[in-house]
Amino acid sequence: MADSYIILDGKKIANEIKDEIASEVKSIVSVGGKTPHLAAILVGDDGASQTYVNNKIKACTRVGFEYTLLNFPATISEAKLISEIERINNDDDIDGLIVQLPLPAHVSSAKVTECIRPEKDVDGFTNLNYGRITSNNPGLMPATPYGILELLKRYNIDIKGRHCVMVGNSRTVGAPMSIIMSYHEYATVTVCHIHTQKLEEFTRQADILIVATGKPGLIKGDMVKEGVVVVDVGITRIETDENERGYYLKGDVEFGQVAPKASYITPVPGGVGPMTIASLLLNTLKATRNGAAHSA
Ligand code: GUN
Repeated sequence: MADSYIILDGKKIANEIKDEIASEVKSIVSVGGKTPHLAAILVGDDGASQTYVNNKIKACTRVGFEYTLLNFPATISEAKLISEIERINNDDDIDGLIVQLPLPAHVSSAKVTECIRPEKDVDGFTNLNYGRITSNNPGLMPATPYGILELLKRYNIDIKGRHCVMVGNSRTVGAPMSIIMSYHEYATVTVCHIHTQKLEEFTRQADILIVATGKPGLIKGDMVKEGVVVVDVGITRIETDENERGYYLKGDVEFGQVAPKASYITPVPGGVGPMTIASLLLNTLKATRNGAAHSA
């Protein structure tokens, strides 16, 4: 198995999904249906957040969605931000809304996220959509876990009965991913996080290892077994003088060490990131079909 790993090409699969969405949008519009419309709220001028939101907007254009980008200064009050969300909640043309995280320290992300109407919550961050993960009729699934699952499925990777080790227990990725893998996919799941002692004893048991900690290079070659499927959610900017942008992107997995032992592995960038965006588009399409824009 050594050195014959297959790249889980999120960029390629996301492009396939975007093509599928674009043709569906065309057929919806051709029979007089509504063009999906995504709104994105960006607060402040963090470079990484700007890049992520720009990529989401670009993806909307690519598939024929309408979009609205609202950019507010970092000084915006929590009350004003919530009133803007409520305005979009009640806008009869907008099907999906995302508030890019992180938000400035004086604003509660949990409170703000919870103000998004669940029918328009295409990130799948609200308590209702979170709870509905364990339902036979899920609402809007959290975008990153949904994207990871779609990536594994499109590479026909067996999940049922296999040992999935999730490193990271965040509300946006680790926690919902672990639930999806056990509840919907029947994997045997172990959840590790920053307080896990002897992390390597767990990661070495993984048939499928999903890492979402934001700690670049955390997973080394001696922490995985031969044949493991590796999904790296981490994407940290590391400063460098060696290129014009002044940084490069590094995942949570030490790719050079881990890839030769893996059967499948995601690259960073080009793995999970594009799949999150594809999921966001799929959720927006679903919200539009459900009539989210005017379900108030
Ligand atoms: N910040 C980092 N990832 C995400 C994401 O998937 N959605 C939003 N809204 N903010 C993020």
